[in-house]
Amino acid sequence: MNDLLIQEATEYILGIFEGNSDGHDVNHSLRVFRNAMMIAAEEQECDMEAVALAALLHDVDDHKLFDTEDNHNARTFLKEHGFDAEQTGFICSIIESVSFSKNRGKKPSSIEAMIVQDADRLDAMGAVGIARTFAYGGKHGRSLEDSMKHFYEKLLLLKDEMNTESARRLAEERHGFLLDFVRRFENESSVGEYFS
Ligand code: NI
Repeated sequence: MNDLLIQEATEYILGIFEGNSDGHDVNHSLRVFRNAMMIAAEEQECDMEAVALAALLHDVDDHKLFDTEDNHNARTFLKEHGFDAEQTGFICSIIESVSFSKNRGKKPSSIEAMIVQDADRLDAMGAVGIARTFAYGGKHGRSLEDSMKHFYEKLLLLKDEMNTESARRLAEERHGFLLDFVRRFENESSVGEYFS
């Protein structure tokens, strides 16, 4: 893999995400990259460079943060680095398959897309997933109790949505931690006996 390219992609996303701290920041992308590399190392042969770049660039056109169309920010980086239309199309197709809401129940068509989708979903689980949920909720004015709903709507469903064996294993452990957290939160926050 071309280390300089990875370094430049990292610098590119640092610039793009400057000022964002709601869980969709540059550190999320770096963790997804790290997760993707861990999963890819255990899976069948895959295009590592495409996995790495798609992981790093997967949120640079996220509609919640950016007003771009057709993966404009991702395409800009790839164009500047000499990727042809076919390679660019492939990397963009991986990026497209990452979104949880847009891809419910659909299986990605390439192993590369399966890996990056799993890597992104893993980052919504475990301790990091919990921290991100409350950071996002706080930013959008939600109470802790409202943020807890997100556990049932998304986080606790992710374990069964993994594509790859290695991600499934990692997800199992993070899921256990989520369950433990939910139980403790509900115990500690229950005030019904005093205020009913
Ligand atoms: Ni993401």
